[in-house]
Amino acid sequence: MIEMNNEKNTQISNNKIATNNAERLSHKIIIDGMLVSAISTETIQVINPSNARLIGHVPRCRSKDVDRAVRSSQKAFSHWKKIPARERGKIMMRAANRLEKRRKELETLLSLDTGNAIRTQAIPETASAIELFYMFAGLAGELKGENFPPNMEHVLHYTTRDPIGIVGAIIPWNAPLFLMVAKIAPAIVAGNTVVLKTAEQAPLCVLLFADILQEELPAGVLNVISGYGKEAGEPIVVHPEVRKITFTGSYEVGKEIMAKAAPKLCPVTLELGGKNPNIILSDADLEIAIPGIIDGMRYTRQGQACTAGSRIYIHEKIYDKIIEGVVKKLSELRMGDALDEESDIGAIISEEQLNRTLHYMELAKKSPSVKVLHGGHRPADPKLRDGFFYEPTLMEGIPIESPVCQEEIFGPVACAFSFNDFDSMMQSANDTPFGLSATLWTENLYRALQFVEEIEAGFVQVNQCVAPRANVSYGGLKMSGLGKEYALDSMINHFTQSKTILINRGKLAHNRSC
Ligand code: NAI
Ligand code: MG
Repeated sequence: MIEMNNEKNTQISNNKIATNNAERLSHKIIIDGMLVSAISTETIQVINPSNARLIGHVPRCRSKDVDRAVRSSQKAFSHWKKIPARERGKIMMRAANRLEKRRKELETLLSLDTGNAIRTQAIPETASAIELFYMFAGLAGELKGENFPPNMEHVLHYTTRDPIGIVGAIIPWNAPLFLMVAKIAPAIVAGNTVVLKTAEQAPLCVLLFADILQEELPAGVLNVISGYGKEAGEPIVVHPEVRKITFTGSYEVGKEIMAKAAPKLCPVTLELGGKNPNIILSDADLEIAIPGIIDGMRYTRQGQACTAGSRIYIHEKIYDKIIEGVVKKLSELRMGDALDEESDIGAIISEEQLNRTLHYMELAKKSPSVKVLHGGHRPADPKLRDGFFYEPTLMEGIPIESPVCQEEIFGPVACAFSFNDFDSMMQSANDTPFGLSATLWTENLYRALQFVEEIEAGFVQVNQCVAPRANVSYGGLKMSGLGKEYALDSMINHFTQSKTILINRGKLAHNRSC
């Protein structure tokens, strides 16, 4: 009883910290280093996914607010780019220290905003986001060009790495703090300034993160606006002063952004979707493969991850054992209010995304061969009735051509397939337009290396299935995206431009001595 009360109390105190911040940040954007009202007077409601209640409003910005943010970033760029890189890094280090001190506020608002469970998701995501911020701050000294041996007589030949200018960053809601840092930190440390648009479903935690950064960053280095994609995102993409776009989200939008940025030859980085294979060979260590299927599917983030291993290929010899193990573990996961530290699984971000899962489940259930092995419903618990909850779901018997196995559901739904031939399994694993991540479980080195060679994916793991993190270069192949993030190469390749310089020292004049 006492324990239950303690649980309730932490949930209440977490809730209080989060709602105070939600109230303070409501109706605000960040321009010139300050929380201000937008020019647009329209707003978007922000909903707590755990109970569908309103937690605040954010401005529904349109092009006038975008123009204002770009002007601010433009002004800031002229002096931010001139600050020596390691000085910029030190400013960012100080900002990261402030984030660290206010970690609890970030974790609780992240959880309230997204419906992602605080213990399993919001706490580790906040830690990874701050860690990534520190990492890029520390990489400031790595901004450097190359020096070439003379290939022309008397000529000094070198290249520079310079900031590009104003970067437009557009992020989604599924891991908003980590994804925000993946864009703003390498851009800012490289001397660019940023206009960031938050996702309409989870804007407040990002605003809090950016608000804390303002205590150290010069005004205008990071401007933050909110709004819908077409109304606030597109004006950033097409703005003539924005010289680089970095985006994470759906393939459909990524493709549109690339087309819209093309006329001004603006480089784009795209992190898009996936339909990723998680493959278990007959000799796999089941002690790690079974939890690896659950972690890989990101069930404790309601499957809302681009890396979710939603196509699970299991060798027929161990199929039943694996399924039994996974189903047992799924049934032990506790679903509940995201701010309750006892919850393993929280709620899906929005009614729209819940409906997306319901749509795919309806399709799946129409298939006569389908068998739902776990989940397949909204939870019966009346306490979860108002929130956007859906049980962690595992199915078998769905034809691989079904949209359920081909399209990104971005919900807690995975399909299992039994196989007995490595080559045809690999063919099926690669038979998707996406190529984001892939995992294999085996103790057979030959097969592991064959898999690494043949799999069409940008992020490949063997005998583990960890989430992307700082210093691990990450990005997709095929229709999963363009470019890599989270490591040094992302700062150098995506947020700098280069000049090639040839300086001819000429001949020593005869009338000069020494
Ligand atoms: P989305 O791709 O529509 O939105 C992501 C971001 O792009 C948001 O900030 C949105 O406002 C903005 N946006 C939308 N249309 C835009 C446009 N025309 N120009 C500029 N910005 C625009 O993703 P949404 O609607 O939230 O989710 C739909 C599906 O997308 C999900 O079910 C999932 O399959 C996929 N997705 C993939 C993500 C990933 O991490 N790769 C993240 C979020 C969604
Ligand atoms: Mg959308």
